[in-house]
Amino acid sequence: MSKLWGGRFTKQTNHLVDEYTASIGFDQALAEEDIQGSLAHVTMLGKCGILPQEDVETIKAGLIKVLEKINNNEIEFSVSDEDIHMNVEKNLIAEIGPVGGKLHTGRSRNDQVATDMHLYLRKRVVELSGMLHELQQSLVVQARDNLDTIVPGYTHLQRAQPILFAHHLMAYVSMFQRDNERLMDSYKRINVLPLGAGALAGTTFPIDRHFVAEQLQFDRVYENSLDAVSDRDFILEFLSHASIIMMHLSRLSEELVLWSSTEFNFIELDDAFCTGSSIMPQKKNPDVPELVRGKTGRVYGNLMGLLTVLKSLPLAYNKDMQEDKEGMFDTVATLEGALQLFAPMIATMKVNKSRMREAVNKDFSNATDIADFLVGKGLPFRQAHEVIGKTVLYCIQNGKYLLDLTMDEFKQFSELFDDAIYEVLQPETVVNARNVYGGTATDQVADAIKRSEVLMQMTEQWLKEHQ
Ligand code: ARG
Repeated sequence: MSKLWGGRFTKQTNHLVDEYTASIGFDQALAEEDIQGSLAHVTMLGKCGILPQEDVETIKAGLIKVLEKINNNEIEFSVSDEDIHMNVEKNLIAEIGPVGGKLHTGRSRNDQVATDMHLYLRKRVVELSGMLHELQQSLVVQARDNLDTIVPGYTHLQRAQPILFAHHLMAYVSMFQRDNERLMDSYKRINVLPLGAGALAGTTFPIDRHFVAEQLQFDRVYENSLDAVSDRDFILEFLSHASIIMMHLSRLSEELVLWSSTEFNFIELDDAFCTGSSIMPQKKNPDVPELVRGKTGRVYGNLMGLLTVLKSLPLAYNKDMQEDKEGMFDTVATLEGALQLFAPMIATMKVNKSRMREAVNKDFSNATDIADFLVGKGLPFRQAHEVIGKTVLYCIQNGKYLLDLTMDEFKQFSELFDDAIYEVLQPETVVNARNVYGGTATDQVADAIKRSEVLMQMTEQWLKEHQ
């Protein structure tokens, strides 16, 4: 069969043009959405009296047959039919005859492809939100198990102040909570129907866009037909949210890689989530977090790619926009791949509590607390800072930690020291002294866990309503 749009042409398309302009190689991933949209469209054509009911039934049965065949790999897509939309239509006509040609009444590929993308992304956003939620749950379980685990907290990757390991993990729970809220919010802008915009200006047929929206469970229809076919903001928004999620995952990845090194030895990733070396028999490599860290780059690239494709594009549809798909598919696959591994990898991670404790005992991360102690005795903070700086220097020069100093040694630096300092310097005291909302004290972290569980229940509710 010739091209669906062949009437105006006197020559065959150059086969290189066919290959260059075709999107079927990747947009076949939209087959289900394409047919779902067509079913709603043709139902509406029947309801509005644009097509006889008999034709509508024939077309619907044909579409279902085509979908079945696609799912059973019984259809060979053709590059000369360019994209999924025309491949489906060609196969529909082959299946039911010329009546299949009535499906495209009152519709353009421009509003059709946009609809497919909205349907596709809407589904993926819910799936990804569920996966993020599972990762949060793994982190919360580990946080609960580590409410008594103290670890050095870092700034500049230098030991700063001791914190609960649970507090560190809960920071990621908060980050992924924001990510999930962004995804859930973006759903509102994804769940808008472009169909009915036609090529750009609407259609001469008396269609009912709201009826199509209802059938496809879209909350709204696009207000403006040009905007409906030109808009790819919803994909950009997704790519930007995905970039932030990957950035968060890459930070966690980097910490997992560091923590599982012999130098830190804070955690051990389960064997099932690590790989070996082909030459060094002793190696156990954290390939999964490394690769997630690395794949963050391609997701940023996908965002930059689409932003650049859309920059300065005149309204309405331009063929450039066909470039919106691969980056989106790749981003969905990259995120799914990472998230589906991260949740069980975090759940099975072993935490080396004693090694963390050893790290806390052998450092000066309690120094701020003796400065605060002197402030409590009336010394201005800036002077206290100076006194403790000198005390720490003395310790370093004499191979000691603050808790090793005798009272006489303390007194060399300030007369304000007394025996209470030994209690103040204990890691538990240091941690529990940060008893402010959002701080690392055990009670605060336990409360933070409870609050995050409430937020996560809200996500669960949202997931239930949108699945
Ligand atoms: N394959 C095209 C795309 O993905 C479908 C829309 C084509 N519309 C057109 N007027 N050529 O963008």
